[in-house]
Amino acid sequence: MLLYDLFVSTACIATLEVDTAPFKSIGLPYWAKAGAPSPALPLWCLSGSAIETMQLLAATDCVGSFDAVFIDADKAAYPVYYELALTLLRKGGVVALDNVLRRGHVIREWKHSAAGHDVAGAAAQTDAAAATAAAAAAAAPAESGSEAELKTSAKILHQLNVFIAKDARVQHCLLPVGDGLLIATKL
Ligand SMILES: C[S@@+](CC[C@H](N)C(=O)[O-])C[C@H]1O[C@@H](n2cnc3c(N)ncnc32)[C@H](O)[C@@H]1O
Repeated sequence: MLLYDLFVSTACIATLEVDTAPFKSIGLPYWAKAGAPSPALPLWCLSGSAIETMQLLAATDCVGSFDAVFIDADKAAYPVYYELALTLLRKGGVVALDNVLRRGHVIREWKHSAAGHDVAGAAAQTDAAAATAAAAAAAAPAESGSEAELKTSAKILHQLNVFIAKDARVQHCLLPVGDGLLIATKL
């Protein structure tokens, strides 16, 4: 809604949702409560797998046109979302990733990592994740927030945080607020 207020006259907002029902029952009423105009609301809900939707957008002239991308979905796919976000963003555009400290589990992961800076591993993982994320999504994933999911996602997020810290395509900042928010500007 803050973004909407900032860009109301010039921007569209697209939210990518695997299931549009909560968006309609929970999200939209808040927009209405905040006084956002409807039906002229420049807000689209694109349903389906976010990876597939972003890949579709990346295959169009949307490439390099987005001002900002906020990533806040399934953590295992964050490396894929990050790469696709960079493709979709314009220069100077911003990608923000929520939950990058994953309730502190990422700090534990960082302490336990052998080198503490496994950039090569992260890069390999970013490539490999594109191939495996779809399969992981198809298989029954561990319930979000379960011990198993926290452990797996903490490893992925730790490697991604390290990767982004060394990524010459962006300038970044990791804010230790809430569950950890990483903000990166595309150079
Ligand atoms: C923590 S909520 C965040 C919602 C939104 N960022 C907000 O602040 O209102 C995570 C959302 O991601 C959606 N999600 C999870 N996995 C997804 C996927 N593979 N593709 C698209 N959406 C997904 C869930 O349905 C859920 O609504």
